[in-house]
Amino acid sequence: TGLHSLFVAAGKLYFGTATETNNLDDPTYQNILSNPLEFGQQTPENSQKWGLIQPNPGDFAFNNSDLITDLSKSYNHLLRCHTLTWHSQLPPFVSASSWTPDTLRQLLTTHITAVVSHFGSACYAWDVVNEALNENGTLRSSVFLDVLGEEYIALSFNIAAGAAPPETKLYYNDFNLETSPQKQTAAVELVKSLQAQGVKIDGVGLQAHFTVGQTPSLESLTATLRRFTDLGVDVAWTELDVAHEDVENSSELAVEQQAEDYVAAVRACIEVERCVGVTVWQFTDKYSWVPGTFPGKGDACLWTADYQRKSAYWAVKGFL
Ligand code: XIL
Repeated sequence: TGLHSLFVAAGKLYFGTATETNNLDDPTYQNILSNPLEFGQQTPENSQKWGLIQPNPGDFAFNNSDLITDLSKSYNHLLRCHTLTWHSQLPPFVSASSWTPDTLRQLLTTHITAVVSHFGSACYAWDVVNEALNENGTLRSSVFLDVLGEEYIALSFNIAAGAAPPETKLYYNDFNLETSPQKQTAAVELVKSLQAQGVKIDGVGLQAHFTVGQTPSLESLTATLRRFTDLGVDVAWTELDVAHEDVENSSELAVEQQAEDYVAAVRACIEVERCVGVTVWQFTDKYSWVPGTFPGKGDACLWTADYQRKSAYWAVKGFL
């Protein structure tokens, strides 16, 4: 047995991981990723982001993202596609040009239509809009908000819905929805507002970038997921990792705490019917984004950098 097979046996759709094209020539990585018992889903960690997929106007570069799509097909994995409208990892021609509402609407239409059409039915789901909210619940400043106001969110979903096969799940995705009450409430209101406008929104992705010992309790995590599923949408942990705050000085106790934190997240998904699955944001510390982005933090994944399964892995498996 493995994480995916046990998760499916518990009624869920998938247990998956973010993957990156530079992981393709790592045989140990591929050996674990291709084990159908361990993984049933992939999310391209970077290769579908705007700056990589349309770096210059009209210049679509699908080669890297196609490698992940092909890999997910050959391993029989579901593909969560990530992401269309996001303030980060934008190419300069988007972030540094002056747009009018009309030209920016046109740009969003061209980009989203081309990308969504390219992948077609390969995508089980799309993170249509990513990280639109601030911690205090206001909308985050970006080229999109600054030029178009909040209509850019509904617009992005509508363009995606127009280009995607009808079965594609369209998600709003964000971080700290689990820990920041104002942000969580704002996301609930955002979903309601989209629904009231007749916009197709099928799910909310909660990134679940947690820190050892600061992960919300099981009760809190299930309550958070239920706040969204009560609106009639699916939910998923889309980027789960649990980082040690200070890797150099993490104790044996912290190792066990990390295991408990991972189990709480996985268990919350099982307890909430419309939680469809869990994606870890890389399964090995070898490729985790955490140390590069948050200096001093790390050791956030289920496997060590040399591919040993950690206590957290065994705890999740034991729970399942
Ligand atoms: C991160 C990647 O993991 C890094 O490799 C990249 O340098 C920056 O982006 N929220 C998201 C993801 O939605 O796309 C981010 O991924 C992590 C935070």
